[in-house]
Amino acid sequence: MSIHTVLVTGGAGYIGSHACVELLNSGFNVVVVDNLSNSKATSLDRVKQITGKSVRFYEADIRDKEKLNNIFTKEKPTTVIHFAGLKAVGESCEQPHLYYHNNVFGTLVLTEVMQEHNVKQLVFSSSATVYGITDKTQYSEDLPIGAINPYGRSKAMVEDILRDLAAADSKTKPDKPWKIALLRYFNPIGAHDSGLIGEDPNGIPNNLMPYVAQVAIGKLPQLSVFGDDYPTKDGTGVRDYIHVIDLVKGHISAIHAFNKEQFLSGNCKAYNLGAGHGYSVLDIINTFEKITGKSINYKISPRRNGDLAEYYANPELALKELNWKVEKTLKDMVADTWNWQSKNPQGYQ
Ligand code: NAD
Ligand code: WQD
Repeated sequence: MSIHTVLVTGGAGYIGSHACVELLNSGFNVVVVDNLSNSKATSLDRVKQITGKSVRFYEADIRDKEKLNNIFTKEKPTTVIHFAGLKAVGESCEQPHLYYHNNVFGTLVLTEVMQEHNVKQLVFSSSATVYGITDKTQYSEDLPIGAINPYGRSKAMVEDILRDLAAADSKTKPDKPWKIALLRYFNPIGAHDSGLIGEDPNGIPNNLMPYVAQVAIGKLPQLSVFGDDYPTKDGTGVRDYIHVIDLVKGHISAIHAFNKEQFLSGNCKAYNLGAGHGYSVLDIINTFEKITGKSINYKISPRRNGDLAEYYANPELALKELNWKVEKTLKDMVADTWNWQSKNPQGYQ
């Protein structure tokens, strides 16, 4: 059997670098396209250290159609995993144009090039953020979309575009229709257990786990817990945290599912990737303290604008159709985060 080449946009980033490890370990050839706007190429050297195999790396912006065309001509991928995108909610409210240009226009250019090269298998990094506000705490894929910030809307717009693309040719091009998996991630945390790759946020982290890790290592003085008066078990926000290794395995499962019934005559389908239950901010702090023996200096602060009290995935569809579910525990997520953080206190620098 010929070995498939998977082109990974954003492959030098946090989730992308872990995906490269899983893809290489699963026997795929891997080509990475990344403009390094939020990552360092060192991550790909580390991928080689872990797997003993190299990815082919192109430092390029997915909006550069000519470069992308040349890469497709040379590398002949059969499938694309599309991680490249900007992801900071606050920044997206300040610079919406940047977010729509990068995330929406970038995907348009990518899918145009894919179409021109007849590459029609795509796994897209979507987000639970697309669900917006609802009275439910457990999110199933059939809930209405209603993102509440430009970042979330950029993901929702891309989902719409991809659904339209698949619908347009599922009947007219039965020989090679689009097969698109929209993977809606809940809250990815953790790192590869080697401690060689992990999340390396620029500046002060926006997200809870890297913030806690930087307080533990002494880089940041104190964590602010955003609200302790939510209607949750202990008053703090509850989220569905998912180990990044479980998450990237979901992408491999999606690629395999392109040969299964639901994709045979073309389709664009959304799948939640989450554990199906949540942990509170205090659960995270307590587990971190227990596993690492470090005490986390924190104070209760006002709620953060735009935060919801509690939500978690209904992951049944991914189990049924992708044969995927999470395997790792909160302890694994905390232990692997700490292993990465303590071995790389300055990230990749
Ligand atoms: P990341 O910033 O670590 O990785 C994204 C990568 O894409 C970076 O290496 C960046 O340099 C690259 N990139 C950005 N714009 C590009 C462009 N125009 N051309 C080429 N490369 C570009 O982020 P991540 O956490 O690994 O997230 C990966 C994807 O998953 C993103 O699309 C993000 O929106 C989505 N996602 C992330 C989370 C999360 O909490 N981390 C949750 C849901 C969805
Ligand atoms: C988790 C919990 C906070 C920081 C974000 C994006 C979402 C997705 C994942 C990409 C909440 C609390 C946090 C802190 C705290 N990304 N918190 N102090 O907000 O669930 O989701 O990342 O798609 O789009 O919005 O994740 O890690 O920021 O917050 O108390 O310093 O931790 O209030 O309850 P969030 P988070």
